[in-house]
Amino acid sequence: MSGAPRIAALSGSLRAHGFNSMLRDAAVAQARALGADVDVVDLRALNLPIYDGDVEAAGLPASVVELRERIDKAQGFIIASPEYNSSIPGGLKNAIDWASRPPGQRFKEKWAALMGSTPGIFGTARMQPHLRQVLAFLGAHVLPTQVHIARAMEAFTPEGVLKDEARQKELAAQMASLVARLKG
Ligand SMILES: Cc1cc2nc3c(=O)[nH]c(=O)nc-3n(C[C@H](O)[C@H](O)[C@H](O)COP(=O)(O)O)c2cc1C
Repeated sequence: MSGAPRIAALSGSLRAHGFNSMLRDAAVAQARALGADVDVVDLRALNLPIYDGDVEAAGLPASVVELRERIDKAQGFIIASPEYNSSIPGGLKNAIDWASRPPGQRFKEKWAALMGSTPGIFGTARMQPHLRQVLAFLGAHVLPTQVHIARAMEAFTPEGVLKDEARQKELAAQMASLVARLKG
C-alpha cells in the first residue's frame, strides 16, 4: 500500500466535549504521529437524516453523499462510542446504515479499531460486541484489541489526556496495530 494510510475517525457521541470525542481525539493524535492521514468525521456537523428508503430513492441528501465519499476514501476506521442502553447509539448506527447502502461495499476488507468510554464501570463493554457484529456483517476486519475507558469523570485531564498510563499504552498499541495493518 503506497502513501499515508487513510483513516476515518468517528465518535458515537454528538456532544461537543463528550468523553468519547476526547478518546477519539487521543486516538487520532496517536494515529497521526504514526504517519496516518486521518479524517475526523463529525456526525453532528453532518446532520444526517434518519435513514428512510423513500429519501434514498428520491435522491441522496448532500450530507449522506458526503458521508459516503469520506467512508469510501478511508482504508480504516477509528470508532469511539458511548454505550446507550447497552448498545450502539442511534446516531452512529444511522450513519453506518446510510454508509452501508449500495452501490459498493464501503466497509469491506477495511480495518476498524473500536473504543469507548462511560462514566460507569463497564467502559462500553456491552456496546462494543454489538458494534463489532455490525461491522463484521459489513465485511470489515475489527481489531481484536478493545479499549474500554471506565469511570470517565476521573479518567481524563481537562485537556482530554488519559491519566492512567496502562490505558494510554492500550490505546497506543491499538493505534500501532491499526496503522501497521493499513501499511500492510
Ligand atoms: C440514551 C442514553 C443511554 C445510556 N445508556 C447507557 C448504558 O447503557 N451504559 C452506560 O454505561 N452508560 C449509558 N449512558 C450514559 C453514557 O455513558 C454517558 O452519558 C456518556 O458520558 C456519554 O458519552 P459522551 O460523554 O461521549 O457523550 C446512557 C446515556 C444516554 C444519553
